[in-house]
Amino acid sequence: PKVAVLMGGRSAEREVSLVSGRECAAALREAGYEVVEVDAGPDLAARLSDLSPDVCFNALHGRWGEDGCVQGLLEWLGLAYTHSGVLASALAMDKTRAKAAFASAGLPVVESVIAPKSQVMARHVLNTPYVVKPNAEGSSVGVYIVSESANTPPRLGPEMPDEVMVEAYVPGRELTCTILGDRAFCVTEIVTAGWYDYHAKYAPGGSRHVCPADIPTEIAEACRDYALRAHRALGCRGLSRSDFRWDDARGIKGLFILETNTQPGMTPTSLAPEQAAAEGMSFAELCRWIVEDASC
Ligand code: DAL
Ligand code: MG
Repeated sequence: PKVAVLMGGRSAEREVSLVSGRECAAALREAGYEVVEVDAGPDLAARLSDLSPDVCFNALHGRWGEDGCVQGLLEWLGLAYTHSGVLASALAMDKTRAKAAFASAGLPVVESVIAPKSQVMARHVLNTPYVVKPNAEGSSVGVYIVSESANTPPRLGPEMPDEVMVEAYVPGRELTCTILGDRAFCVTEIVTAGWYDYHAKYAPGGSRHVCPADIPTEIAEACRDYALRAHRALGCRGLSRSDFRWDDARGIKGLFILETNTQPGMTPTSLAPEQAAAEGMSFAELCRWIVEDASC
């Protein structure tokens, strides 16, 4: 079968996607597929019509590639594609609306508000400490942490959209759990010297991943359960990864789901492939599973 690996695109996570895409393309070639690497530009529809692949492997991250846009195009072209469909992608990418879906599925979410950027820069919109982030970006692009002792509100850069999400800061630990189909992988704890920002995510040695996480069984099982329920609440397909904060001083009451990523990173420092490996599934097997799960 011919597989077109869609990568790059024009989101803030373009570079991450190029790395994810090349890794997946190499693994699929090794697994015996005919693979074409496609940098998703304005001519995407024409290129795919020419190529007419059996499957489009979506290795895009961020806007246009993870938010339902490219999924809609692929539906329109009648091409089978991997990962989540239009609705789940759009819902997951909008952190606030995803939280509403999580809450209605009974999952614990962190208090947050959406506010105009000007207001967030004028006064503390929530009690400190809190986090300011775009409602719809990934890889910690444009995330500001306002500390407990901050007297002044944050100075948000021009990269931030006109409306931002302000979320209570949960102290403690960073956990994540990948779902593949109806299976939850083991939980990873991400340990960083500072916080898990773009550099820590992608620079080799930028963070340490403990997989399986050294946490109580009750917490690990809750993460797995929440990740699966989040995947289902959003209507995700194939691979997804849900991220959590755990205030370990508060036990199970301190565990909160932050978001679900429908296009988890597939780079050499990414979490989903590492969790798959810990479950005995190689990167090539993971990529092959994803291709076989593709549909339209
Ligand atoms: N947004 C990045 C790619 C991730 O969630 O892995
Ligand atoms: Mg994300």
